Amino acid sequence: MSNIALPFKRYTITSALPYANGPLHIGHLAGAYIPADIYVRFLRLNNKDVVYVCGSDEHGAAITIKAKKEGTTPQAIIDKYHAQIKQSFEQFGISFDIYHRTSEKIHHELSQEFFLNLYEKGEFIEQVTEQYYDEVYHQFLADRYITGTCPNCKSDGAYGDQCEKCGTSLNPIDLINPVSTLSGKPPVLRETKHWYLPLDKYQPWLEEWLLEGKKDVLKPNVYGQCRSWLKSGLQPRSMTRDLDWGVDVPLEEAKGKKLYVWLDAPIGYISATKQWALDTDNDWEKYWKKQNDPADDACLIHFIGKDNIVFHCITFPSILHAHGEYILPENVPANEFLNLEGDKLSTSRNHAVWLHEYLDEFPGKQDELRYVLTSILPETSDSEFTWKDFQARVNNELVAIFGNFVNRVLVLSHKYFGGKVMEANRLTDTDRFIFSELERYPKHIAGSLTQYRFREALAQFMNVARLGNKYLADSEPWKLIKTDEERVKSVLNVSLQIAANLAIMAQPFLPHTAQRMFGMLNLDTVDWQQAGRYDLLPTGHQLGEAQLLFEKITDEQVDVQLAKLSKAKETNMQVAKAVPEAKGNVSFEEFVRMDIRAGKILDAEKVPKTKKLLKLTIDTGLDRRTVVSGIAEYFVPEEIVGRQVAILVNLEPREIKGIVSQGMILMAEDKDGRLDFVTPQTEVQPGSVIR
Ligand code: MF3
Ligand code: ZN
Repeated sequence: MSNIALPFKRYTITSALPYANGPLHIGHLAGAYIPADIYVRFLRLNNKDVVYVCGSDEHGAAITIKAKKEGTTPQAIIDKYHAQIKQSFEQFGISFDIYHRTSEKIHHELSQEFFLNLYEKGEFIEQVTEQYYDEVYHQFLADRYITGTCPNCKSDGAYGDQCEKCGTSLNPIDLINPVSTLSGKPPVLRETKHWYLPLDKYQPWLEEWLLEGKKDVLKPNVYGQCRSWLKSGLQPRSMTRDLDWGVDVPLEEAKGKKLYVWLDAPIGYISATKQWALDTDNDWEKYWKKQNDPADDACLIHFIGKDNIVFHCITFPSILHAHGEYILPENVPANEFLNLEGDKLSTSRNHAVWLHEYLDEFPGKQDELRYVLTSILPETSDSEFTWKDFQARVNNELVAIFGNFVNRVLVLSHKYFGGKVMEANRLTDTDRFIFSELERYPKHIAGSLTQYRFREALAQFMNVARLGNKYLADSEPWKLIKTDEERVKSVLNVSLQIAANLAIMAQPFLPHTAQRMFGMLNLDTVDWQQAGRYDLLPTGHQLGEAQLLFEKITDEQVDVQLAKLSKAKETNMQVAKAVPEAKGNVSFEEFVRMDIRAGKILDAEKVPKTKKLLKLTIDTGLDRRTVVSGIAEYFVPEEIVGRQVAILVNLEPREIKGIVSQGMILMAEDKDGRLDFVTPQTEVQPGSVIR
């Protein structure tokens, strides 16, 4: 009974490599992991040759910025979060064939091989250009190191490589009012050489391959984004960066430069496959390279969130195309965003449902979360998770319909017939209708799944459970048993066949539940081709023990979760207005004893062997004096020479690192500890009194 269109025999399925800079939350799951896992499990159930790869994305500013924030090294960050993410995925049951990482040697080598392949073909444009540079941190600012206003949608907080609001891919130079995320200061321009991928050159090819070739297969949200980018015209994009964390650019003259993270990360899909093939004695090239007979090519599908569309539909395919030996993605079924309780999910604001916390707090309830997230997947537009809705869907659907049906059939079979499947010798029209429905649904569900309509597929699956539940309720075997035992045998037989079909069809969506059902039915796992049959359980078959599949989510459980979210919100508000407490009053006499003057910095140099200290020479109008000031992290010595300052001149001299400091420079300090000078708005005479 072949019931579906799966034209390829081999599949390479990828889920976006999450950055190893924080834990996973439900937004990740709904974007790129649950849909892919359902799809992959469905392919495997159809006996397709599938490899499902993923891994941690361990390069780029996402990592180094996090390291800075936590006051540690990038290596420590990726080790910590890679381990945590990997474990959460495992516990949750995302069925990767391999969960790899881009810091592995095999990945660095393959990324460099790709770069050199394109380099030797002369694909890159080599260009010296002026790029933004942070003079405080002595670093070029690419990608997430720079923010500003998006030139396209005009919203603030766009990154140097992309605006997350409108999805446009950007260059730092495009940003309006750019600011360094390191020093918080506007950057300056400096020359540097980089290697650019000529996306403009590939534009005609992309229009044909993507816009024309994929018109009918891409989801509308994906197609629309691609079309609008191509319409605005592609620009060459630099594939190298001035950074000290990442894959080395394999060229003598590019010493110290790294590959752009969006060059190396998608190659991570390939290096993961390579590692998997090594581990399992497979041939990775079958999953990635063009075969002699194109009919043998694997089908490559990338599951991602919407902020990754440009990289998977335009950049990475261009790289694969330029290389020439690789297959191209068949489809990129990107999802939109998931919101939480009326607000955007946010890692920094801790407004999220964290997967590792869910797994701890709801042990054994992986499928409940899978079920609810699948029901609300943001397939065509943004959607929303709320805990009340989570509770309602679990209690009213999983418990009341699916779980209730399965439990009742099993319990009654044990009660009346010792857990044996009895013969169905008295079939009615209703029974025949049920059988025809059982035949119809697997095709329907398969049709939805192959079109990446997971919500619809799950809804159909639940219709089968509903059908069973209604059939049992209408047949009332608990009443009939007193008058017509023969008919009860048939009713329970039919119900058990429905339950067996549910077990088969639950496998892609609710894998843990499906396994428990096979146990209860005393069946070995059954593949998708068997779905639709109504003789899955032969007469005389002995059933296993009945267990409850699902439990209700209580109001208390919901309240605990809601309280957690409000607490995070409160903490944020406190942090946002974290200003030190007010000090007690001082008298006017005490105040006027402070002799504060306008001064001018004549000279500045770092105090050797310290991180924070600068030795300043100040013209106070009264004299020239030396002041040691803890501002070295925020100012470059040469650049503050000539600046006006406010200086407390009658502070008792103090010796700091062997230097006598005579006075104190007044600074404003924000909640992040960032410092700025307090100065008159216009140039005033040194020695002017400040009061
Ligand atoms: N780490 C990226 C993100 O979280 C996704 C990388 S996907 C890959 O947005 F293709 F580059 F691997
Ligand atoms: Zn924008």
